[in-house]
Amino acid sequence: MRIVVTRRIPEAALVELRALGEVWMPEEDRALDPDELRKTVAGAAAIVCMLHDRIDASVAEAAGPSLRIVANVAVGYDNIDVPALTSRDVFVTNTPGVLTDATADLAFGLLLALTRRIAEGDRLLRSREPWSFHLGFMLGTGLQAKTLGIIGPGQIGRAMGKRAEAFGMHVVYSGRSEPKEDLLRRADVVSLHCPLTPETHHLIDAEALKVMKPTAVLINTTRGPVVDEAALADALLGREIAGAALDVFEREPEVEPRLLELDNVVLTPHLGSATVETRTQMALLAAENVTAVLTGKEAINPVRG
Ligand code: GLV
Ligand code: GLV
Repeated sequence: MRIVVTRRIPEAALVELRALGEVWMPEEDRALDPDELRKTVAGAAAIVCMLHDRIDASVAEAAGPSLRIVANVAVGYDNIDVPALTSRDVFVTNTPGVLTDATADLAFGLLLALTRRIAEGDRLLRSREPWSFHLGFMLGTGLQAKTLGIIGPGQIGRAMGKRAEAFGMHVVYSGRSEPKEDLLRRADVVSLHCPLTPETHHLIDAEALKVMKPTAVLINTTRGPVVDEAALADALLGREIAGAALDVFEREPEVEPRLLELDNVVLTPHLGSATVETRTQMALLAAENVTAVLTGKEAINPVRG
């Protein structure tokens, strides 16, 4: 059986996959372009893919009738056309649970980096400009008794809420279908944890940013297109909100150039799940899903369209 792994994954997961069949993995560590992807999946029984791979009907066609499972090494699966695969009896799986704490840690870290000006302070020292301690120097804002509004009360959203409570914050939640205006109006911090779907695309647009307090900040560790990045840059430049910390971008790996110029913006390159422990568990979970399906069992983490 041919198993296609679209990009390098931890060795422990490869060992599991090699026990099942012939594993193909690209030599170069870069994203495959769509044509390369279609070529390499021909005859595959399983595709282990990354969030930057677009897996649609054309990829399923290219793989042919041998294809049984597409295992995304990510919790989000907006890169996969699930109905197109399900209609061909191909399982789609993701990796929930194992990255909950790592992602919430990063989201909270971004919040602290932004409100306590950690990244900005680091830049100041590296600029070798003279500085000295004084009571008005580089003041941030405290989090205690402030309100955190979480959009998307799933596992990661609730893990973020737990961290915030430990810091003395008041936490409010809003689901995808509930009105979010009240949350946006009240929150000192808005943190996004909803998956990217047609309904959440540009959930935070110019209008939503206007509802937020001018002192509020926005944290995004889910998917870039949940935020209208150009509208966010406008809102920051117009001082409609006080700051933003982003781990994901609308046109990844590109970043809206105006955001790169702003000191009240903290940026990280999609690192939510990026710990040695979590990435190993994610790859192992993807391999376990492949093993289950190719040995005739039910997928552990099936996703339905
Ligand atoms: C990462 O962004 C994931 O969805 O796992
Ligand atoms: C600050 O560095 C303090 O000692 O209060």
